[in-house]
Amino acid sequence: MNKTQLYAKFYDLEYVNKKDDVDFYYKLAQKVDGPILECGCGTGRILAPIARSGKAIWGFDINTAMLDITKKRIKTLKIKKVKIFEDDLTNFSSPLLKNKQFDFIFLSFDSLAYLAQKDGTFYSPQETQHRQYLALKNIAKRLDANGIFAFDLFAPNDLSKEYTIRHHFSRIIKNETWSLFSAIQIPTKHIFQIHYFMEVSKNNGVVQKWHYPVSAYQATFPEIKSLLGKVGLHPVKIYGDFSLKPYKPSSEQMIFICRKK
Ligand SMILES: C[S@@+](CC[C@H](N)C(=O)[O-])C[C@H]1O[C@@H](n2cnc3c(N)ncnc32)[C@H](O)[C@@H]1O
Repeated sequence: MNKTQLYAKFYDLEYVNKKDDVDFYYKLAQKVDGPILECGCGTGRILAPIARSGKAIWGFDINTAMLDITKKRIKTLKIKKVKIFEDDLTNFSSPLLKNKQFDFIFLSFDSLAYLAQKDGTFYSPQETQHRQYLALKNIAKRLDANGIFAFDLFAPNDLSKEYTIRHHFSRIIKNETWSLFSAIQIPTKHIFQIHYFMEVSKNNGVVQKWHYPVSAYQATFPEIKSLLGKVGLHPVKIYGDFSLKPYKPSSEQMIFICRKK
């Protein structure tokens, strides 16, 4: 397993039981009849239950190791209704997406923030803002005139809790102990880097360690609203968490449901 595959496996182990956002997007998906697109679908944590409910759903991600996990999850489902493919949010270059319109598009679990990096390149705040603009513009283009687009992003208030070294979990898998740790650095305003340290200890005492840095961009609420305006999207609901409390400046999350203007 290479480092990216390991990270995908650790990601999946860590979030397999995270359900609040799954319920949110699942309920929205049940309200539409037409095709659904998840951008940055990762390991299929949210896509798989929606696919299993019989909805026609497509999902793409830039990380093929994560997509392999998604494909395993949905292996038994009718392929016509579910399509999983590699693509980049900033260019939507897959021929599959050409001329395709979706009734519901979503971008979950802070994915917009992770446009601060690609393949080991770490972008400046200005570059990342532009990449976010491109992603939202592509999404707006593929959204049906009556469709909805939903996404969530951490709000600045959530970050202060994270500036520490964390032990995420340790799990025993087939005589090996898989442990994940992280530490956060803030190299420049609005950008933070999460340094993941992955460890696999075998029964015979051999310990393997990997370092996997991930960069994220902390957008502000006014910035996101301005970006949405620029791409012709209009928020119809804005929540501050997945219990659906209205967004306020002290909220820890920004959850948007948008339509085309
Ligand atoms: C925090 S994960 C969320 C994954 C999944 N949506 C979930 O909720 O579990 C962020 C995802 O965005 C993907 N991603 C980052 N940059 C991307 C890009 N330029 N194009 C497509 N996907 C990207 C990552 O590979 C990762 O799977």
